[in-house]
Amino acid sequence: MPDPFEQLVDGLLAHNYGQVGDFLDPPLIVALRHHLLDRFERGKMHEAGIGNQALFQKNKAVRGDFISWIDETTANEDEQKFLRRVNDFVEYLNRTCYAGIRSIEFHYALYPEGSFYRRHKDQFRTDSGRKFSLITYLNEDWREADGGQLVLYGETEEKINPQAGRAVFFRADEIEHEVLEARRPRMSLTGWLKNR
Ligand code: OGA
Ligand code: MN
Repeated sequence: MPDPFEQLVDGLLAHNYGQVGDFLDPPLIVALRHHLLDRFERGKMHEAGIGNQALFQKNKAVRGDFISWIDETTANEDEQKFLRRVNDFVEYLNRTCYAGIRSIEFHYALYPEGSFYRRHKDQFRTDSGRKFSLITYLNEDWREADGGQLVLYGETEEKINPQAGRAVFFRADEIEHEVLEARRPRMSLTGWLKNR
């Protein structure tokens, strides 16, 4: 098996997205899941919107997740470990593909039971800085029947279970995707690699 960074990049070069099953170590996943749930229980996560700035609106018919941004300056030890892992990947990507990534932004996401995110692309019209999307899942023992699959609309359609440790990586301006209705709470760290 190629190493996780190589596997993500190989997929990207072959068909604009890559995925890998072991992007994060299991103990780190457990820790991050606890931090997410802690933020949620303390009321620190807010309903996500669609669009940004002037175009920002909340629309439950489009997406139903709650999010909370990770602030590098206040990140705890586990969140810093996560950000270091992503930055190592960025370094690999810039070195092997001249990707020109200069910053990252990440948030926790929780989809309550019954929520989804309809088909969309991630790059906003007013923020073309987002080059790549990177999603890491935090859900132990996810089953097909739990719903909540990520569907990627590439050359072919692919359904991905949001299983703990799995990471999905794709071109933010190319790949349309959707989150099917989750039948149990669905947790992730979602973010973007930007060229400014
Ligand atoms: C997003 C998104 C997909 C997922 O937050 O923009 O598409 O699998 N998330 O959580
Ligand atoms: Mn998206």
